[in-house]
Amino acid sequence: MRKIPLTLDIISTGKYIPSGTITNEDLEKLVDTSDEWIVSHTGIKTRHKAIGENTSDLAYKAAVNAIEKGKVDKETIDAIIVATITADFASPSMAAIVQARLGLNHRDITCFDVNAACTGFVYALQMATALLNTGPYRHILVIGAEVLTKILDYTDRNTCILFGDGAGAMIVRQGKEHQHAYFYTASEGDVEDVLSVKEILRMQGRRVFKFAINAVEKSINRLLELDGSRLDQITKIIPHQANYRIIDGVAELKKIPLNKFFLNLEQYGNTSAASIPIALDEYLQERSLHSGDKLMMIGFGAGLTWGGVVFTQ
Ligand code: COA
Repeated sequence: MRKIPLTLDIISTGKYIPSGTITNEDLEKLVDTSDEWIVSHTGIKTRHKAIGENTSDLAYKAAVNAIEKGKVDKETIDAIIVATITADFASPSMAAIVQARLGLNHRDITCFDVNAACTGFVYALQMATALLNTGPYRHILVIGAEVLTKILDYTDRNTCILFGDGAGAMIVRQGKEHQHAYFYTASEGDVEDVLSVKEILRMQGRRVFKFAINAVEKSINRLLELDGSRLDQITKIIPHQANYRIIDGVAELKKIPLNKFFLNLEQYGNTSAASIPIALDEYLQERSLHSGDKLMMIGFGAGLTWGGVVFTQ
């Protein structure tokens, strides 16, 4: 692949977390597990559950939050991209539904969904950045939204403990020359159902674990190479929030201090395409971006897919 920096400016982020919760104690009543096992093997304590809401509701609410926080005139949004593997239905797209809910049906805007599972938000942001750098787009709304609880088997202790519902959103525009982003995205067709959703989510945990560590390591190496930077120049890494042990494993492998990673999976579990934008929103709430900051976002998941972006403010 050629090395082409694209300009990018993150105007605002937002999130929506549904109010229902599933604690480890709740799961102890459903499957043969324990809070101790879940925390020691994953780092997760709670996840959220949408009650009476579907993926488009979560996506819309995260979008409104990002629009309000960024004080963005929604009439200047020229495209909406939603990353999800739990769309309410196959068509219309979640992006088109969000367009309607935002009252933007009178405008000719580009709306589509992206299916790249837990790497979905990175893929969607890459599409948005490419559009911004080539087309007449002013603002693009990028959303990751999932109601994973509707595709979980609550008799399977290997999977049901890991995932939760949520949505995150980001509004982006073309950046100034120094605000640039390098993307690296990849996939390897999973013909052995290592991690798949064929109505219900199924997973070969050990294999996914190994794949994930390798994918994150490869993504970090590739992004540093593209950006021409060193790890110590990266302000924060926002990884897909799947499992504390995966991040800990990468940190150990690459000798990265654990506090270089932003982690919030304890509260939400794995929210697939929503995990990176939710985490980014919470990170930016703690600390806003300064000129010269470098953020890395890295995803990995079903497909199999993986990849990331390194963004310089
Ligand atoms: N509670 C209690 N015991 C459990 C359990 C649970 N929820 N899930 C599995 N176990 C048991 C297994 O049955 C097995 O028991 P056995 O030795 O008697 O057969 C034992 O724990 C070890 O199972 P194993 O699957 O080898 O555990 P692990 O250390 O690999 O941890 C995962 C399991 C799922 C936490 C881990 O493999 C993982 O995180 N994989 C990646 C998952 C992921 O992130 N997926 C999404 C990527 S986007």
